[in-house]
Amino acid sequence: MQGGGEKESLLPPCKQQTMLKATYATQIESLLARYASPRSVVLPLLYMAQDHYGHLTEEAINEVAAILNLPATDVFEVVGFYTLFYDRPVGRWMVQVCDDVPCCYCGAEALLDALKQQLGISEEQTSSDGMFTLQRVKCLAACHRPPVVQANLSYFYDVTAERADAFIRFLREHADTPQGKSVSGFYAEDYEPDANGTFRQIPRKLVAYQPPAASNGTPAAEPSQPAPSEPSAASPPETA
Ligand code: FES
Repeated sequence: MQGGGEKESLLPPCKQQTMLKATYATQIESLLARYASPRSVVLPLLYMAQDHYGHLTEEAINEVAAILNLPATDVFEVVGFYTLFYDRPVGRWMVQVCDDVPCCYCGAEALLDALKQQLGISEEQTSSDGMFTLQRVKCLAACHRPPVVQANLSYFYDVTAERADAFIRFLREHADTPQGKSVSGFYAEDYEPDANGTFRQIPRKLVAYQPPAASNGTPAAEPSQPAPSEPSAASPPETA
């Protein structure tokens, strides 16, 4: 996607898209108001564009650059640098199988083989129905429950080769959920196998911080409660 030299005015004005600004005006304004520099909004805006268009087309990248009043080259470089930006069409689900050492010891290669067979594709390919793109990735930092797979950045634990069929079925059945519609992972959750041969969402637990007792025997002062997190302005509305 990247080339040498400055990449400016890649499209004539009549071909430049304005869909993002028209669709997400409030969210974009909110993001811009949050940061001192428009440059700081590049990543959330690219994720927004990626979810809206399905992947980052040249037009979409130019559109982001235009909204932020940045040189297009700068935005193309960001897209080229980060592996979670997709500058080519990808499936509804981006399935990323960890093949690092702990996952490999627990069957990651067998899982990859099973998924390839299930989907009829090789790595870095997309299934003919446009539903799945398969990738092999390095450690996903969840080595305690291998083999680990990410699908649109949702974590799936203990996905053995024997569970490949249930895993694919689960993703197909959930293709129209927010998780399935956001390849950028705005609504990502955690899942584990359940007793019914499918997967269940793991509830998130917020554990309160317990301050250690002070050395004189009196309890340490309670830390002030963090402010509740506000809804992310970067979260795009669900796309069709
Ligand atoms: S090795 Fe697979 S999550 Fe760390």
